Amino acid sequence: MRNQLRDLAFADQFISAKLVENVTDFEVADAVVVNVSPSAMTTGHEHPAVVPAWKSTWLKGGVIRSAERAAVIKVTNATKLGGCMFRGWDWLGNRIRSFPRDTPLFISAQDEVGTVSVDPMVFTNERAQAEAVQPFTLKLNLWWAPGDTDCFIHNEHAFLETHAQIHGQGRMQKFARREPEALYEDVVMPVGHSHDPFCRVTGPNQWTYPWHRYYSDTDSVWLAVELHP
Ligand SMILES: [Fe+2]
Repeated sequence: MRNQLRDLAFADQFISAKLVENVTDFEVADAVVVNVSPSAMTTGHEHPAVVPAWKSTWLKGGVIRSAERAAVIKVTNATKLGGCMFRGWDWLGNRIRSFPRDTPLFISAQDEVGTVSVDPMVFTNERAQAEAVQPFTLKLNLWWAPGDTDCFIHNEHAFLETHAQIHGQGRMQKFARREPEALYEDVVMPVGHSHDPFCRVTGPNQWTYPWHRYYSDTDSVWLAVELHP
């Protein structure tokens, strides 16, 4: 069945968030469209364009011509959006004891989408053709932080991750050491952008990340796309 549609776990009266699968000619009035699948998405009418696997764009009266699976997300009401902690979003410090006590970073409910088959080295752009495909559980959640928040430099994840900017503007940053002064790359995240994965595969279900963080320039909502082995 085409265009199977459901709300994502973090949809509420402030944020429209839908998952659409087996996509054919799906019209999007105004939303960030994230290709949450390992195959290419195509958009457009007379000038079709490709949104590669795990990348995104901002459609405004546009169309997804074809896709395996897409997340379609839009902040529809920004007034008191920052009160998300009163609507069930969790402060990350409640989950990580070492998380800085003064950092206002909040996580939404997580949506477990299902299983995807991915070669992790294709995900990380270390090779073009899939050779060692394995199953991963795809999980999606949103993050919120007010402007000018240092969302914590870290380098460990038990999963492969990338992010898409939904609202506001921020940066995904890489560091040579665990200190802000050691910044060596600033990946600007305007609405609709997804950064390339930062990790490198080092073995079966093993990968390393550079020291990295998200930095919100303005009040921001961004989507985490996680592949759990
Ligand atoms: Fe991370």
